[in-house]
Amino acid sequence: MSRTAVIAGNWKMHGTAAQARQLASGLAQRLGSIAKDRQVVIAPPFTSLRAAADAIHGSAIELGAQNVHWEASGAFTGEISATMLVDAGCRWAIVGHSERRLHFGETDATVGRRARAALAVGLRVIICVGETLEERDNGLTLEVVPHQIRAALLDLGPAAIRNVCIAYEPVWAIGTGRAATPAQAAEIHAKIREVVAEVADGNEAQGLRILYGGSVKPENIDSLMAQPDIDGALVGGASLDVESFARIVEF
Ligand code: PGA
Repeated sequence: MSRTAVIAGNWKMHGTAAQARQLASGLAQRLGSIAKDRQVVIAPPFTSLRAAADAIHGSAIELGAQNVHWEASGAFTGEISATMLVDAGCRWAIVGHSERRLHFGETDATVGRRARAALAVGLRVIICVGETLEERDNGLTLEVVPHQIRAALLDLGPAAIRNVCIAYEPVWAIGTGRAATPAQAAEIHAKIREVVAEVADGNEAQGLRILYGGSVKPENIDSLMAQPDIDGALVGGASLDVESFARIVEF
């Protein structure tokens, strides 16, 4: 089955609104036309969503957020709801990034709640999973990642899963310059598809876009995308530069 590739830029906690406007409009100009077989998403910090939305208006680039809260509104100081993200121009939300799991107490259960809330208002969701170096060294990758997937997809019906992408991001590869090899990533991506076929059904699993993340660069995108089960990339550092992100989009 041919799947539309997704290339998403996770800007993390970088830049002012003015810088976001500049980067987003640089991308919109540089990527004037985007091939039909790929979708491009940028996820700036919350404070830059509006500026980025204005800058990409009329282009094929779509806006995403880096996190989302599970309640619609209420006494949740510091949180942003899914409806607020839609209002700010978002069509996507990233949930469960390993930096949130590591630094902000994100658990498999809260990842699932965030995903459900975002899907309920029509956002597409990128659910991040991945093992730590210690887990990989102890041979636990094929236990940890399926567990994260099952927990996040719990209670999501097939219709919702159609709006989900999974990002496999080995923690040891994020921001380290040491990407997984295409073969390492492909092995886990194939396993993820198997697990999704168990919890949803074969059709949903075949249509699911599984992105690789962790030190994706212009130099390694082509060999990653050549793997049958790699359907896109979640890009951190290299998404902050117009030319390098555009080259990744044009794998
Ligand atoms: P990186 O980050 O590309 O800088 O390794 C990827 C991510 O954390 O999503």
